[in-house]
Amino acid sequence: MRLAVFASGGGSNFQAIIDATNGGVLDAKVSLCVSNKASSGALERARRHEIACAHLDPRDTPEDDYLTELFSTLERYEVTHIALAGYLRKIPVAVVDRFRWRMVNIHPSVLPAHGGPGMYGKRVHQAVIDAGDLFSGATVHFVDEGYDTGPSIMQDTVLVLPGDTAESLAARVLEIEHRLYPTALQLLANNQVTVSNGRVLIRHAFTQQ
Ligand code: GRF
Repeated sequence: MRLAVFASGGGSNFQAIIDATNGGVLDAKVSLCVSNKASSGALERARRHEIACAHLDPRDTPEDDYLTELFSTLERYEVTHIALAGYLRKIPVAVVDRFRWRMVNIHPSVLPAHGGPGMYGKRVHQAVIDAGDLFSGATVHFVDEGYDTGPSIMQDTVLVLPGDTAESLAARVLEIEHRLYPTALQLLANNQVTVSNGRVLIRHAFTQQ
């Protein structure tokens, strides 16, 4: 598996993916980091780890030009899978199509709760607290044409504690994200994940031929 990680922000999940590949937990090569933000922490981390970087913002160029550049960059680095890690731009349908069931995202809630347009960052955690939910968590899911609507691959949960703020809950969720994302990606690297009728099927490693 040759991964491109798309990230807009600090990139702590990107870092967890890099660490997992270096630590032998994830059999993948991180070939490329794509960011819409030139000053993102994610691009900074990529440079530090000598991972190829692409600064591409779909809002800067007409869609056709953006797609031509993105696809040629993905081909140049022989990318087989895409992992979105805090990427705050809508993925064009042409990219979803080309990377169908080979592109995943991590969302900081137990989907389908608290996903959808505008649900990112602190807003997600505030919504969990406002709803009085007893637990929250994170979901790794395939990317389809919608917002946070693709089939879920793995989830993990944390308790919402009395006195939690969006910040304290976000920090606890982020901690589990850093374990969950590499684990889910390893299932893909092992070819253990298939999608049938919109649902994910995970084959246990011990049943593999
Ligand atoms: C994470 O909470 C992730 O679930 C969401 O965006 C955040 C990115 O954080 N999609 P980081 O940039 O990986 O630290």
